[in-house]
Amino acid sequence: MTSTSARQSCVVGTGHAHGKATLVGEHTAVYGLPAIAIPLPGLTVDAVARFAAESPPPGRNTMRHILDREYLTCRFTCDPDDSTTGVQFGPAIAVRAALRRWMIDHDSVEVSVGSSIPPARGLGSSAALAAAAVRAVANLLGESLEDRVLFELVQCGKQVAHGRASGVDAATVIAPEPVWFEADIAHPIVSGLDAALVLADSGVGGNTRQAVEVARNVLGSRRADARGLLAKAAAITECAVTALEAGQAAALGCQMTEFHAFLHKLGVSTARLDRLVSAALRAGAHGAKLTGAGLGGCMLALTEPDNAAAVSAALADAGAQRTWTLPLGGWLR
Ligand code: MEV
Repeated sequence: MTSTSARQSCVVGTGHAHGKATLVGEHTAVYGLPAIAIPLPGLTVDAVARFAAESPPPGRNTMRHILDREYLTCRFTCDPDDSTTGVQFGPAIAVRAALRRWMIDHDSVEVSVGSSIPPARGLGSSAALAAAAVRAVANLLGESLEDRVLFELVQCGKQVAHGRASGVDAATVIAPEPVWFEADIAHPIVSGLDAALVLADSGVGGNTRQAVEVARNVLGSRRADARGLLAKAAAITECAVTALEAGQAAALGCQMTEFHAFLHKLGVSTARLDRLVSAALRAGAHGAKLTGAGLGGCMLALTEPDNAAAVSAALADAGAQRTWTLPLGGWLR
């Protein structure tokens, strides 16, 4: 057992992570098939960790959070000894796993997190909160933290909070570039795509656990063609990465729209999301689809940069609660 006093520790530790958007491959990733996801560096999480003045009582790991439209702040205290399931909050579970890994056996830590990622919108909020929190605790303790270890710790929290998590969120919220995620491994994608992505919030929160269940039931009820459906979805993802690497926005957009049709068949789209997708396409987007688990949350549209304002306006007219425009050429390597 290691005592924190023997370590090179700081008074406070800090950590950072960002949001993510899945371009194609949500749901199929749960079955080990590939997905393409991009970091959203404009949506960020910053965490600060410090040793807690006192441990919470057993089973009472504390968590407070304040949520408003713009910002989520939360503060939680983790006791590594607490084996009860008091708080099923992914970031707290990830931090507890980190403390155990580093054999911090008697110090509780308090983590404060501020996030500009809207929660329950398929933009990686819970994975990014966990990643920033674990990074802050590593920094507090003077522990070096490899990306692979961070990925596994974030996954601990995701698995408990969301059930079956593929790992695409955990990998992308710590990645500096777009990733091809397959069978637990994230590979960087190199692309010079010159396009814009318009993200729109449908205004309704999604529920990943429920959406994964819905998709599984639909696939289960279509046993005869489930394998074919998944194979077709994987082929769309393959075509999408070829288009992304070649910088072909129109071809990538087509694959995104096709993937939306697949997600619709899986039962995870909603009338609101379908309406937003249609509005973006009518406004001249190359392609559009829901992003993340669905049953609410966000959609995204790929468009020429000089058409982004028109797409964004069309989405607002079609009921989007909020839109964000990302110039892709700015950060793709
Ligand atoms: C990822 O954002 C959404 C799902 O694909 C679940 C997962 O991959 O863990 C539905």
